[in-house]
Amino acid sequence: MKKEVEYNGLKFEPYISKERIDARVQELAGQISKDCCGKDPLFLCVLTGAFPFASDLFRAVDIDAEISFIRLQSYQGMSTTGVVKQVLGLGDEIKGRNIVIVEDIIDTGCTMHNLISLIKEKGANDVKIATLLFKPSALCRPVKPDYVGFEIPTKFIIGYGLDIDGKARNLQDIYVLKDEK
Ligand code: IMP
Ligand code: MG
Repeated sequence: MKKEVEYNGLKFEPYISKERIDARVQELAGQISKDCCGKDPLFLCVLTGAFPFASDLFRAVDIDAEISFIRLQSYQGMSTTGVVKQVLGLGDEIKGRNIVIVEDIIDTGCTMHNLISLIKEKGANDVKIATLLFKPSALCRPVKPDYVGFEIPTKFIIGYGLDIDGKARNLQDIYVLKDEK
C-alpha cells in the first residue's frame, strides 16, 4: 500500500487495505449465500464504481446466482449533482426476480433511492442492497442497506472502483482525502 497518492492535485492517504476489503467481502458473501439460498438471486452491479466489489462478491457467493449491470450517473468531481441519470438501462430481466443491488458506496442515498423505485416499477419480487461503503451521516433519503462492508464518516475516498473524475478506480486499496492542515 502506498503511503500517499495524488490525483487532481489532491493528496490521499491509506484508509482500508486490500486485505481488510477481501476479508469483509468474504463475510458478506457468506451472509448473502445463507439468506438467498434457493432464491436464484440476480445481482445487479451498479457501474462503474461497483465493478471490482461485484466481481469479488459474486465469485465468493457459493449458491446459484446470476449477474447483470446498470449504469447510473450522479457525481461530477467530488460532489453529487443530485440528479441521477440512467445511462445503461434495465430490461425485463428484473420481473419476479430476487434482486441484490451491488453498489460501491451510499452517500446521500439519492442514487439508491432512485434505483429501488426503478427496480420495483419493473416488478422485482424482492430487493436487497449490498454496499461496500456507507456514509450514514450524509444520508438524505430513506435508504437502508441490508449488507454493509464498512460504515465510514462523510469523507471523500478513492480506490477499489471509487474514482475522482474517472481516475483511481484501479487502486487495490482504499484511500481517503487528507485533511488540509
Ligand atoms: P449518492 O447518490 O449520493 O448516494 O452517491 C452515490 C454515488 O456517488 C456512488 O455510487 C459513487 O459513485 C459516488 N460517491 C459517493 N461518495 C463517494 C466518494 O467518497 N468517493 C467516490 N465516489 C463517491
Ligand atoms: Mg457508484
